[in-house]
Amino acid sequence: MTENIRINNPNVKYTDTHIEAQYCYHTSAVRRDGDTLTVTPSVSELEFRTERRVPRLGVMLVGWGGNNGTTVTAAVLANRLGLTWRTKTGEQKANYYGSLFQSSTVCLGPGPDGKEVNIPFRDLLPMVHPNDIVFDGWDISSMDLGSAMERAEVLDWSLQEKLRPHMSCLRPRASIYIPEFIAANQVGRADNILKGTMAEQVEQIRADIQDFRHSSGVEKVIVLWTANTERFCDLTAGVNDTAKNLLAAIQVDLTDLFSFSFTLSFFILFLCLYQSGGEVSPSTLFAVASILEGCAYINGSPQNTFVPGAIELAVERNVFIAGDDFKSGQTKIKSVLVDFLISAGIKPTSIVSYNHLGNNDGMNLSAPQQFRSKEISKSNVVDDMVNSNPILYRKGEKPDHCVVIKYVPYVGDSKRAMDEYTSEIMMGGTNTIAMHNTCEDSLLASPIILDLVLLTELCQRVCVRPQGSETFQSFHSVLAILSFMCKAPLVPPGAPLVNAYFRQRACIENIMRACLGLPPQNHMHLEHKLQ
Ligand code: NAI
Repeated sequence: MTENIRINNPNVKYTDTHIEAQYCYHTSAVRRDGDTLTVTPSVSELEFRTERRVPRLGVMLVGWGGNNGTTVTAAVLANRLGLTWRTKTGEQKANYYGSLFQSSTVCLGPGPDGKEVNIPFRDLLPMVHPNDIVFDGWDISSMDLGSAMERAEVLDWSLQEKLRPHMSCLRPRASIYIPEFIAANQVGRADNILKGTMAEQVEQIRADIQDFRHSSGVEKVIVLWTANTERFCDLTAGVNDTAKNLLAAIQVDLTDLFSFSFTLSFFILFLCLYQSGGEVSPSTLFAVASILEGCAYINGSPQNTFVPGAIELAVERNVFIAGDDFKSGQTKIKSVLVDFLISAGIKPTSIVSYNHLGNNDGMNLSAPQQFRSKEISKSNVVDDMVNSNPILYRKGEKPDHCVVIKYVPYVGDSKRAMDEYTSEIMMGGTNTIAMHNTCEDSLLASPIILDLVLLTELCQRVCVRPQGSETFQSFHSVLAILSFMCKAPLVPPGAPLVNAYFRQRACIENIMRACLGLPPQNHMHLEHKLQ
């Protein structure tokens, strides 16, 4: 089902190449004077311009041979080929359930009969269809994608049999492997690794991107990290604090130091690197390579890939970056449930989340430093909602929030998440919600991977001319509109960090509506509320 939408408004112009929309952006500024808050509404007139032509999109996955990498590739192939397969409960057809754009709808307004007209989210603006994405990628494991899909144990066997001929010919490119960043238990699969200095490896990744672009004929490449969770990287002045220092640190690989001649500045950098252990993680090296190639880079894992130097480099080069950590299961529910509780005036006082999973991600997370990355990413998710309600929480007060993850091989990819939310209700009452969630982790993450790249690609075709300006601007390099799909959203400096599910979703919908000159969805239905 595909819908063609045409906006009937003189403020919206369709040219052969663009949709041009004049848009009134309403905001309010608030000032406190003593105990009075003065609210000043304002309107600015913006022009949104969206390129209509959808490019041929290539997506390169770091960790292509993992559960997510193989599952998303298989799902796209199965959808493209229109595959069906037998399960014990009947025939199953390929679909994109779990994808915001492919499988959820947005309301355009009432039709002639007064009933709401809902269309697929993806039809609001011209977007790449996932069936048309060409995949490539890297993995430290050399296994072809057919065998890696079998290793993942995610998809039904009869579907795997149909997909194997298409998957087995896909083989990940050799990758950057610095053992100390992921769990020691991953060493057994690392048989496909690049050699050489950090600088040489970054050059090889850049060459891979160029090779993929030329050999596949794609017009645009987006790189997404869905490899193992790394431990956090030390932030060190002189090493990864600025774009210049980060690029220099990559050149000054400690392992290759003595092939350089020493200048004073080189010596100082060497000292910084030596003291810090020369911390540049593989994921940051991938980010740098992508940014230098002008390719958007998305981080689907929790680690701090985007050190200040990487962010600065992306801003300097005007390349989109986004992350961190796919928001797929337990955290997604948390960002719904806590939003509901706090916005209903109920006070969550304790949130305890247990997980157990048995896939390779779970095995990697069983190591303390990698678990710590995940724990941090999962922990801050309620902060914006807590801070928004000073009636329930004193300044600095937070609910107790505990996250436990255990590796239980038997459950494989079928992750268990058990949560207990305890809240204070009226007059000292207590409300406890306990939840048990069983779900194939990679079947939750795969549609999110698609949404992330599709929205990033769309954002690359949108620009905005602010009121009074002659020139159009693109979105900020830190693509915060992707927050909806991320557990620990990266936002531009000073920008509000939003985790609340429905605010995040409304942000995407309303920005896409703005591109069509449509006002934000307000849900007022005033036409039905007056006498
Ligand atoms: P996985 O362990 O099955 O796959 C990761 C792959 O990355 C493996 O094939 C491994 O060989 C490869 N790898 C490790 N280091 C690499 C490197 N330096 N370069 C290239 N490849 C490398 O894990 P899975 O389940 O696919 O998850 C991937 C990531 O996504 C993990 O970090 C996980 O925490 C994150 N994530 C997953 C979610 C989900 O599945 N629902 C939700 C949120 C985040």
